Amino acid sequence: MYRSRLDGKLDDITLEFLSSISDDSVIAQYDILGSQAHTLMLFENKIISKQEAAKILHALEKIKKENISEKSDAEDIHELIESLVIKKAGKDAGGKMHTARSRNDQVALDIRMKIRDDINTVCFCLNQTIETLIDLAAKNEHVIMPLYTHMQQAQVGLFSHFLLAYADALFRDLDRFYVAYGRVNESPLGAGPVGGTSIPIDRQHTAKLLGFKGLIENSIDATTSRDFVAEYLGNASILMTNLSRMAEDFIIWSTSEFSFIELADKFTSTSSVMPQKKNPDVLELIRGKTSQVIGYQMAVLSNLKGLPSGYNRDLQQIKVSIWPTSKILVSSLLVVNSLLKTMKVNEKKLRQAIDGGYSISLDIAEALVRKGIPFRNAHKIVGNLVQIASNSKKSLLALSADAVKSVIHNNEIDAKELHKIIQSVTPESSLETRKSQGSSGKHEQQRMIDNRKRKVQAYMGGTNKRTNEVRSALEVLNHNVMLLIKNMN
Ligand code: ARG
Repeated sequence: MYRSRLDGKLDDITLEFLSSISDDSVIAQYDILGSQAHTLMLFENKIISKQEAAKILHALEKIKKENISEKSDAEDIHELIESLVIKKAGKDAGGKMHTARSRNDQVALDIRMKIRDDINTVCFCLNQTIETLIDLAAKNEHVIMPLYTHMQQAQVGLFSHFLLAYADALFRDLDRFYVAYGRVNESPLGAGPVGGTSIPIDRQHTAKLLGFKGLIENSIDATTSRDFVAEYLGNASILMTNLSRMAEDFIIWSTSEFSFIELADKFTSTSSVMPQKKNPDVLELIRGKTSQVIGYQMAVLSNLKGLPSGYNRDLQQIKVSIWPTSKILVSSLLVVNSLLKTMKVNEKKLRQAIDGGYSISLDIAEALVRKGIPFRNAHKIVGNLVQIASNSKKSLLALSADAVKSVIHNNEIDAKELHKIIQSVTPESSLETRKSQGSSGKHEQQRMIDNRKRKVQAYMGGTNKRTNEVRSALEVLNHNVMLLIKNMN
């Protein structure tokens, strides 16, 4: 439709190569809404007549309901929709729809509208998953387990503490998306191809009709920039990386060797050949899909880094990284949420795991510190105790009075007293004495749970408000469109 300056039609292979039609179905509805807002604005600013506007809007309403993905020789959804409008509304009216805009501001608009919706959906799903983690933490406040560093037992902890740690990481993800929304929710419409237009359009008006908070003002910036896409995909990569770590923990914990948790059957797969298998495929796919999302982010950044300012067709390829990313984010969060709700926590196994190790060592050393012994000396004494115990495959509790005595070199503590301290320190007492803010201490769990519950409510309220703002704006737009169409005859 646009090739009057050029000789010859595109051959099929070249058209297929150039066309983004197959990637554009995702934004077709946004493109129509954008065109309706633009048309209303053209009419309200006396750039086109009421009759012309009504014809265009009517045609767009019909296209909304049609399946327009069929084969066409349009290069993209913008050309296809415009050609359909011209077909339905006639050249005289339909030919005016593209006044004072360009596909360059149009495609930027469509992508922003799509990501805006996706961010709200992701925030909603994140809120739900975090809420599940907090509920699960509340149920597991008393479940004692070893905490690991280097995959070696480090300290005694609580399962709730772990769950709250994931919740806090996901809160940061939630906040990253939540804040990015403000940078996405700005309208590029009316920027034209790159430098604006002489036609007296009202950019603020189209922005408002489409529910945007304001404008991407500079027309070069509005049509060139895709940093909001890079930001969205960056946030997506970080979120997936967090989910992937959680998946890895759960995969290890669901092995027969650990058996800390058991996944519900419906979140596992079996083997075509080994009948006994119960594999954590869903969690493995969270890891696998994380790699994919990181790849999409790389694709976008490497697309952008060498482009000159102004629209360049390379930008078309960015879209293919966005749509699947959103799909992966939402499906991952939904699956993780249900998996958490149905997983069994093996309280006994978690508690037993501590008995085989020496994760109360630091607690003993701190008990010595409380007796006035310098930490470095306390560390040495307990280190020696663990060495003796481990060499004789005993627990610290089972060490004889003589063994205990052998680690004291300069009378800094009485052997009997040390023996008593060793006997008194248990995983349970360790958690009673743990006091620092954010620690595994029992009292800290309850405080963090209450605090995080309030945080979820705040984000949920904000996300709902934003979703409603967009919905109401689009309802008003629809109302205005219908009014004009009704008056047509
Ligand atoms: N199909 C293009 C894209 O997705 C739309 C913009 C085309 N603009 C242009 N001047 N060729 O990015």
